Amino acid sequence: MTTLHNTLTVDLGERSYPIYIGTALLDEGDLVRRRIHSRQVMVVTNETVAPLYLERLKSSLSDLDVAEVILPDGEVHKTLEVLTRVFDALLRRRFDRACTLLALGGGVVGDMTGFAAACYQRGVAFVQVPTTLLAQVDSSVGGKTGVNHPLGKNMIGAFHQPRGVLIDTGTLDTLDDRQLSAGLAEVIKYGLIQDPEFFAWLEINMDRLRARDAEALAWAIERSCRDKAAVVAADEREAGQRALLNLGHTFGHAIETGVGYGEWLHGEAVGAGMCMAAELSGRLGWLDERDLTRVSSLVKRAGLPTEAPVTLGTERFLELMAVDKKVLDGRLRLVLLRGIGAAVVTDEFNTGTLRAILDEAHPA
Ligand SMILES: NC(=O)c1ccc[n+]([C@@H]2O[C@H](COP(=O)([O-])OP(=O)(O)OC[C@H]3O[C@@H](n4cnc5c(N)ncnc54)[C@H](O)[C@@H]3O)[C@@H](O)[C@H]2O)c1
Ligand SMILES: [Zn+2]
Repeated sequence: MTTLHNTLTVDLGERSYPIYIGTALLDEGDLVRRRIHSRQVMVVTNETVAPLYLERLKSSLSDLDVAEVILPDGEVHKTLEVLTRVFDALLRRRFDRACTLLALGGGVVGDMTGFAAACYQRGVAFVQVPTTLLAQVDSSVGGKTGVNHPLGKNMIGAFHQPRGVLIDTGTLDTLDDRQLSAGLAEVIKYGLIQDPEFFAWLEINMDRLRARDAEALAWAIERSCRDKAAVVAADEREAGQRALLNLGHTFGHAIETGVGYGEWLHGEAVGAGMCMAAELSGRLGWLDERDLTRVSSLVKRAGLPTEAPVTLGTERFLELMAVDKKVLDGRLRLVLLRGIGAAVVTDEFNTGTLRAILDEAHPA
């Protein structure tokens, strides 16, 4: 049975758009069609998601001219080369500037589809239909799109907001436990950054979330989207506040790059990264022992690592942190915690303290 639990709005003036959250929304043709103002629709998905959900989505849109392009699965395929296949499909079918792209899949498909939409004929409409928890709570909202370059992740891209986000929480039924946990890292992040009440709710409900309790998941997704939408509305292009969403990410990116992409999932690296940010905040006297324990135990209960891999040495770790794009004017800026629900972007920390933490995490 179809249930629309809630509709949120990302408030960006005339580019505002709704986020629909509910179960079995893939079957709700009317809802999707509200966000599509064209006959021509190109669904972009991948070889894993297509057999699961493509036909259902297509049959909800049977009165439209719907085509599809099915990409190979995986972060390694998030490249300009693979993106060309979307343009090939659009041009071959003679899709015009009024067409709509529809992203059906996780964050990789969403980021690529959004970027294709930003580029095709200098910009066409697109709608997000995220199918991983990470994409539902994070990547589908906010308009950051792009692909990877061999020299850096997400280095080629554009800001391009979707016309709408359709979250069918039922799609999480087929997601494996490891991917579910990875998504929970970003959920915890919102609580830590600015929503202490949500953090406390997560402490009570973490086991329900991991058991895929539908009601708990829908609530966590809604709250996360609400938090992200507020940040995006206040700072669409990351001039300030939006940078807080990078909590745990500078540490996390160092881990992802250091161990090699694909070894650790992004959310796993962010889980460990948030614990490291909390640890540093603790050493600076900003976070007390009790809150420090609250952070690491919640991350652990989400099924995520709480420490960096021991294989990376301190020097290499610092080097990797320094290439992260959050470095401005040569100073390393980090998102740290002044308390649970009170994140700040700062370069006011002692590098020696950071070094000490890394030394302890990476005994020689
Ligand atoms: N644009 C943004 O603001 C933003 C934010 C965070 C992350 N990202 C990007 O998102 C990407 C990570 O997204 P992700 O974690 O969703 O990874 P992903 O897209 O690779 O999906 C993870 C895996 O789950 C599979 N899958 C997707 N939906 C499924 C379902 N319902 N059932 C079973 N399997 C399913 C995928 O095919 C894939 O194998 C990264 O490229 C990252 O850079 C972007
Ligand atoms: Zn992230």
